[in-house]
Amino acid sequence: MGRRDAAGLNEHTVSQTDSTREHLIATYRKKAKHYDITSRLYPAPGYPQRTQRLRTVQALGLHAGDTVIDMACGTGLNFPLLQKAVGPGGRIVGVDLTDAMLARAQDRIKANGWSNVSLVQADAVGFDFPAEVDAILSTYALTQVPECAEVIAHGTAALSAGGRWAVLDLKVPGSTPEWLAQLGTATVRPFASIDEWIMRRPWEAIRAAMQEELADFAWTELFFGTAFLAAGSSRSGPGQAPHQP
Ligand SMILES: C[S@@+](CC[C@H](N)C(=O)[O-])C[C@H]1O[C@@H](n2cnc3c(N)ncnc32)[C@H](O)[C@@H]1O
Repeated sequence: MGRRDAAGLNEHTVSQTDSTREHLIATYRKKAKHYDITSRLYPAPGYPQRTQRLRTVQALGLHAGDTVIDMACGTGLNFPLLQKAVGPGGRIVGVDLTDAMLARAQDRIKANGWSNVSLVQADAVGFDFPAEVDAILSTYALTQVPECAEVIAHGTAALSAGGRWAVLDLKVPGSTPEWLAQLGTATVRPFASIDEWIMRRPWEAIRAAMQEELADFAWTELFFGTAFLAAGSSRSGPGQAPHQP
């Protein structure tokens, strides 16, 4: 997956094509140092984030020795759960756009003495997924990626037969009391206007893409519709023709 730079990260495949991405990176650079603490308040104090992460990892149906990609992994908050599932014989690849978030993830890897985790700084949409991946997850991140449907398609093409994709993210609830809508939208401030995020409704694009690409698709609304867990399985292994509807 390329050369490693001074921070121990694999060489960049970042394509920063617009000012939104530049702004996003700048924002997460500022957040990185305290992200593990501040994210406990995300998107609001008491939000059942850990339970949602656990459900997402469970939805992957991981086995010891599996390879899993954590797309837009941030500081690696999912890594302990993934480690537990794949064990020391498994492999975890964390991918993220923001160098400072990956630097925190690297600290976590070092502190835990994990030798089976590698990090790649890349834009999700340009990431060259390795073949024969058993599972891919993305938590609280994919609605920030305008090309989220492309990311789903690229990831699906890399999954081994029966491999699993799971996405956890925030959304705006269907019937929305104002305070709940605020929960769903608090997350988007770093990268775009809330109005733009609400208008774009990226969770719908994610749902449609996963429904199109994957078998056994399941969509679950969480915590009063302020979040969703979407998951499904690959219909075919890598190198085979993609699914035709
Ligand atoms: C709210 S944080 C979530 C981090 C982690 N997944 C978690 O659950 O804690 C969003 C992360 O998405 C990353 N990100 C946003 N857009 C991205 C993109 N286009 N490609 C890769 N990473 C991206 C940011 O750098 C940031 O680390």
